[in-house]
Amino acid sequence: MAPLMTDHAPHSTPESPGGSASEPLEFFAPCAMNIEALLAYELNTMGMAHVRPTRGGVAFEGDLAAGYRACLWSRLASRVLLPIGTFYAADPQALYKGIQGVDWQRHVAPEGTLVVDFSTSGSAIDHSHFGALKVKDAIVDQFREACGVRPSVDTVDPDLRVNVYLYRDQATVSVDLSGDALHRRGYRMQGGKAPLKETLAAAILAHARWPDIAADGGQFVDLMCGSGTLLIEAAMMAADFAPGLARGDNFGFTRWLQHDEAVWDRVWTDARDRRLAGLKKLGTNRIHGYDRDPRAVEAVRENVVNGGLEGYVTVARRELADTRPEPGPPGLVAVNPPYGERLGADDRLNHLYAALGGQLKDHFSGWRAAVFTGNPGLAHHMRLGADKKHTLYNGAIPCKLFHYRLN
Ligand SMILES: C[S@@+](CC[C@H](N)C(=O)[O-])C[C@H]1O[C@@H](n2cnc3c(N)ncnc32)[C@H](O)[C@@H]1O
Repeated sequence: MAPLMTDHAPHSTPESPGGSASEPLEFFAPCAMNIEALLAYELNTMGMAHVRPTRGGVAFEGDLAAGYRACLWSRLASRVLLPIGTFYAADPQALYKGIQGVDWQRHVAPEGTLVVDFSTSGSAIDHSHFGALKVKDAIVDQFREACGVRPSVDTVDPDLRVNVYLYRDQATVSVDLSGDALHRRGYRMQGGKAPLKETLAAAILAHARWPDIAADGGQFVDLMCGSGTLLIEAAMMAADFAPGLARGDNFGFTRWLQHDEAVWDRVWTDARDRRLAGLKKLGTNRIHGYDRDPRAVEAVRENVVNGGLEGYVTVARRELADTRPEPGPPGLVAVNPPYGERLGADDRLNHLYAALGGQLKDHFSGWRAAVFTGNPGLAHHMRLGADKKHTLYNGAIPCKLFHYRLN
């Protein structure tokens, strides 16, 4: 989903992003609908300056290291963009001219590769494929005229990902520092049935106040863990573990011509040190997952290893009715039960939600619970009074997150 940058205009170009530019850089981090405030809070706690949530994303300022940190550390942003130009483009010629106004040799080599992401809303150019082609033509023509050689298009692993957003004929051109979308953390090889997007799982945990519960020493349990997204995100949050660490160098900025390896190295080393200390603090036996499907259990095991969390997350094959809290302090039970869009039939689901409610009431007193479902009508079968609700989007599906205090 493209950001709606209504009140957002970049005021600096990255002349020397890694150096001592006195002007801060302006970034924009798009995110899923309804989590802008959570993302703004996250970016504030990361120390970003002038953080401003708008619809579909959050603008913030900082130096180049801040942009790199947002890519590596944001659990909620889908991308991190560095705007490098804005102009009015009510027709294809104006778009072409505006794109040619950017000096592209500062961003990609003539023999390099690029891809263009183009989205449009409320504009005369209303076809994103056409817009992307026009932008690509303008860039490669600039190279051809200047050097006789031009970058080629690589949609899979480009050196430069260009992002153009056209809103009411106003174009914002950005370098996409993230490259691959940030929910691709690099740990999930096994998807399982209906897995949650990692950024959505992180939003569920943030709303459920898992970071506070974890800081107080609480446990985390997912009674229907599927591929383990909530478990892994919960472990990473509790262990001060940057969610992008498993991506290695797989970020959009690493082959961008203005990339500063020394700055990235410092950001990366700091994240590695924090992970070491954080895992020690988290300790073992705090994060537990269950699922009745043996393939899900297997997927979690693999994903946990890929995420560098082996030993910190336990998982077992168990039917919901047989789950019990492990010995230790109470904490948070978070569950994303099947909800009928893609799994199971409805009368079975009524019973499943009733069983979940019974299970929480009978065995998890003193805990908090968060239940995330795309079929909120099923929640009343749990027979628990929610003390809060949030609406979150799973792709285009509006879903509800119910919060409970279990006595
Ligand atoms: C929507 S998926 C969970 C997806 C997960 N949040 C993820 O990100 O991969 C629901 C899971 O509930 C499990 N499940 C359904 N009924 C169950 C039951 N009675 N006991 C235990 N697990 C169950 C399914 O096997 C499935 O993996």
